Amino acid sequence: MPSFNTFLNVLIHPILDASIYFSFDQRGYLRHQKSYFNPNDLEKDLSDLNIMITGANNGLGYETARQLAHMKANLFLVCRNPEKSEQAYQEIKKIQPNTTLIIADMSDLESIRNITIDQKIDCLVQNAGLMPETYQVSKQGYEICLATHILGPLTLIDHLKHKNLFSPKPRIIFVSSGGGYTKKLDIHQIFEPTQINYDGMQAYAYTKRAQMVLSEMINQKNPEKIESFVCHPGWADTSGVRTAMPKFFEKTKENLRNLQSGADTIVYLASQTKENQSTQGVWFDRKIRSYYLLPFTKESSEDREKFWQKLSEILDLSHLHYPI
Ligand SMILES: NC(=O)c1ccc[n+]([C@@H]2O[C@H](COP(=O)([O-])OP(=O)(O)OC[C@H]3O[C@@H](n4cnc5c(N)ncnc54)[C@H](OP(=O)(O)O)[C@@H]3O)[C@@H](O)[C@H]2O)c1
Repeated sequence: MPSFNTFLNVLIHPILDASIYFSFDQRGYLRHQKSYFNPNDLEKDLSDLNIMITGANNGLGYETARQLAHMKANLFLVCRNPEKSEQAYQEIKKIQPNTTLIIADMSDLESIRNITIDQKIDCLVQNAGLMPETYQVSKQGYEICLATHILGPLTLIDHLKHKNLFSPKPRIIFVSSGGGYTKKLDIHQIFEPTQINYDGMQAYAYTKRAQMVLSEMINQKNPEKIESFVCHPGWADTSGVRTAMPKFFEKTKENLRNLQSGADTIVYLASQTKENQSTQGVWFDRKIRSYYLLPFTKESSEDREKFWQKLSEILDLSHLHYPI
């Protein structure tokens, strides 16, 4: 007679997870929690870890900082707006006095390269993100999703590496999105999205798929030097979702994840130091999942190389001491 857990794992989880709806929302979290979570997973003392979080003044980034502060991690909050971030900084500091606020805009490559810190980073949470309503460009002239989700994060990795501000084998965590699952890696859409009839949701989804690919490429090209994870939070009630997707919010608001459950997998990954934790896939609810939910979204190895080639035409990656 199969156990209840076997029944859940073999039948219930696959069916409900395939629905997306009953997986990405709060009900999915509660269901996954029963099967995949170990109650001791987050009972950690992280006072030896330096964790940098981008976009930490609000939403999931703030919640990630709050939970990690309770675990005593030394935190570096990267936020772009001094006024908006001050309150968040003070709140986190009350929990963990060893917290530093860094003002930098993750879409502005120059601003990222000006980041200075006096300690080495063990874990970098690349959380800053947005879904723009209209076509916008970054200070250097790149479409804003490309700049914030791809060029900025890669520049930050490069910068910390170049300045010797990473500890050995740091952990990188990309906070991608389930929206990325709907897209195939598309060089044109990522690097030259159309300005006429621009669709911010599309630009968001293409660059979120690109984060999944980028994370895997980082691992493949330098397995000894860096460990990169990618996760998605499901659907959580944040001001980002409320303002960027008001119709979606209205339809789903009863069942959206709260900040705690939305940030859970980010916190889980940032707080683990396990060797050989899989980086081959997308983490969701503390479990590794496939990179692809739809067969037509699988990119070719040629497309990946073209993607990398395109990135190296834009960014000076020569400071990286490994060929990522
Ligand atoms: N909530 C969800 O259901 C959901 C689902 C899938 C993926 N995600 C991902 O989760 C991450 C956090 O989303 P959220 O829902 O918490 O959104 P949010 O409430 O809008 O928070 C986004 C954070 O990113 C910051 N940010 C945006 N652009 C930045 C830049 N150029 N430089 C520095 N910081 C910047 C924002 O700062 P300001 O306050 O200054 O704007 C804010 O702190 C994003 O990457 C998002 O794509 C969220």
